[in-house]
Amino acid sequence: MKLSATNLTKSYTGHPVLDIQNASFGGHGIEGLIGPNGAGKSTLLGCLTRRIQATTGDVRLDGDDGVPTSLMGYQSYEVARMGLVKTNQRIQNFDSLTIRDSLRMAATPSDKQDWRSVWTLAPIDDALEAEIATLLARFPFSDPDGYAMSGGEKKLLDILRCVIVKPKLFLMDEPTAGLPDEITQDVMKLVREKVDAGEMTVMIIEHDLDLIWKNCSYVHFLSEGSILFEGKPDAVKKNRVVAEKYMGV
Ligand SMILES: Nc1ncnc2c1ncn2[C@@H]1O[C@H](COP(=O)(O)OP(=O)(O)O)[C@@H](O)[C@H]1O
Ligand SMILES: [Mg+2]
Repeated sequence: MKLSATNLTKSYTGHPVLDIQNASFGGHGIEGLIGPNGAGKSTLLGCLTRRIQATTGDVRLDGDDGVPTSLMGYQSYEVARMGLVKTNQRIQNFDSLTIRDSLRMAATPSDKQDWRSVWTLAPIDDALEAEIATLLARFPFSDPDGYAMSGGEKKLLDILRCVIVKPKLFLMDEPTAGLPDEITQDVMKLVREKVDAGEMTVMIIEHDLDLIWKNCSYVHFLSEGSILFEGKPDAVKKNRVVAEKYMGV
């Protein structure tokens, strides 16, 4: 699934934080989105998924039929249903649901979600229930039928809640922040399997550049709200602007 952004801007109280003239995302398997703190990376993901209302501009989804659909008339839950799903940079609280129920809830279409769905989860089909069990076997929580306790468990649950929705384009905002190294590796392995199987494409925001170079076949460099360079990892590594503005040299 491919997205194009045109003249996409976001300002807060008149102060511009994002200004993307023309860019495409989601056409390269696993892509990276890198840049200094405050560059506008999270704001960009927010605008692409309609969680944040852009000030101007358009985001279009290139359909399988080649006809682009503007997302600007849609709400974020509708955009998620179209297959564009994002994780959160900040740790989310799932205080009212157990880990397993939280995954069941994520897998339930949002028009069927209400307080009853937690107690009437039987309608969730067996295949989904099995998939949740497989995920929980693969990613061990201290108690899957209890609540996510640590920051790491909450972060992982946020990621798995997105995976269970079967995104077509999966946007990950700093997945390693707060996750132990080995869990990060496992998450990346899961993501790679799904990308290799042609089930989804991914874009990852990450400060861990080793993870970016290792996993991404294309990288966008964002600084002060604009994409200043993009290309294959080797080209990005060698780029003078990226080095000056980000690599701390
Ligand atoms: N809700 C908000 N209100 C005002 N300013 C914001 C808000 N969210 C983000 N910003 C500002 O927008 C800029 C980009 O932020 P962000 O997208 O979070 O950057 P990044 O994810 O690249 O670190 C920063 O200067 C930040 O302070
Ligand atoms: Mg951010």
